[in-house]
Amino acid sequence: MIDFTFQNPTRIHFGRGAMNHLESECRALGATRVLLVYGGGSIKRTGVYDQVMERLSGAQVWELGGVQPNPRLSLAQRGVELCREHGVELVLAVGGGSAIDTGKAIANGACYDGPLWDLFDGAATNTRTLPLGTVVTLPAAGSEMSNSCVLTRDEDLCKRGRSTPLNFPVFSILNPEFTFTLPPFQTACGVVDIMAHMMERYFTRVSHVELTDRLMEAALVTVMRNAPLVMQTPDDYDARAEIMWAGCLAHNTLYQTGRVGDWASHKLEHELSALYDIAHGAGLAVVFPAWMRYVLPRGGAPKLAQFARRVLGVTQEDDEAAAREGIARLEAFWQSLGLGTRLKDYGIDGRNVGRMAKRCTAMVGGTVGAFVVLDEAACCEIYRLAL
Ligand code: NZQ
Ligand code: ZN
Repeated sequence: MIDFTFQNPTRIHFGRGAMNHLESECRALGATRVLLVYGGGSIKRTGVYDQVMERLSGAQVWELGGVQPNPRLSLAQRGVELCREHGVELVLAVGGGSAIDTGKAIANGACYDGPLWDLFDGAATNTRTLPLGTVVTLPAAGSEMSNSCVLTRDEDLCKRGRSTPLNFPVFSILNPEFTFTLPPFQTACGVVDIMAHMMERYFTRVSHVELTDRLMEAALVTVMRNAPLVMQTPDDYDARAEIMWAGCLAHNTLYQTGRVGDWASHKLEHELSALYDIAHGAGLAVVFPAWMRYVLPRGGAPKLAQFARRVLGVTQEDDEAAAREGIARLEAFWQSLGLGTRLKDYGIDGRNVGRMAKRCTAMVGGTVGAFVVLDEAACCEIYRLAL
């Protein structure tokens, strides 16, 4: 295990009554001027918007709707302007990862004088942020308790993540009932993303990380057991609750403690969702198995086999055979949720493989990944394995 410092300051209110904490959170922050950030309208159809507005009746609220999946810089810039114009004291993001990440970008941008993208391309940094609260309607990105924020620049579809302690929300409200209305595809994409956040950390070269290995194995098994239940019965509160809490824990950096994560699959996927605008989880279901097949003969077999045996119930004794069977079972599981596991399932061919591999590596010093370090050529090969 390597040295670490762990702190996660986000307060979580979880369960059927979680929304009742919104007023007291605003009061504690002294926030009477609120910017409400949300997506394309699902919160209005589901009634979550009304519940939020009821709790905010004592505050002045400005609204910024229209956040699209794979959220764009331009909308966040509009939010920054609104914050400055109206002296906003709390950014409240309601929705999935896209709404929450837009809220994070706005909260940071409101406290930085230069162009917002500076904070994403590393040209500058801020030292303060506005307080951010979230109401989660889609368990997936884990942004409600994470230090990261992912945004896409409109003009060249450059998608970049930024991790900083400033991104931790002050509070997040998680009511599993709010996820009953999710379309099966979004539920499935969320399940894949939650699993991927653990797998990125699970596949490490750091040894003696038994506790975090076991924590992630337990969470992965739990997610895999409950995912078919919510696909079958969307309003199964208990199964939704297991998935929602797992999604939060999967990315709140606890499982990162004492180890180095890989994150190549996320970087490879971000190029896919940037260019083709596919759902992040759908992209991961394509990229992760290809990444596994690539790293298997490059020293990956023992850890892949451990994953296959402990998470997927594989019994083969030979590591390579166990690893291969594990990859097959993982793909079959994601397919059982209705997702494709090949690029062609989303109508994507090989023509942009070189472009994506270049963009994936160029901005980050030429390589991605840590379990196996990948250069541009390796990234090309993984995209090809995903065709
Ligand atoms: O926009 P609305 O109308 O709200 O509809 C959304 C959207 O179309 C819909 N939805 C959400 N909750 C719903 C619902 N529909 C019905 N009922 C509900 N309860 O779902 C669609 C997808 O929403 P989105 O927020 O885009 O999905 P997700 O939560 O998967 O977020 C994806 C974004 O998060 C980033 C991804 O790259 C992507 O941009 N990530 C952010 C991370 C972070 N900040 O820590 C980490 C992740 O690895 C990820 O990269
Ligand atoms: Zn993710």
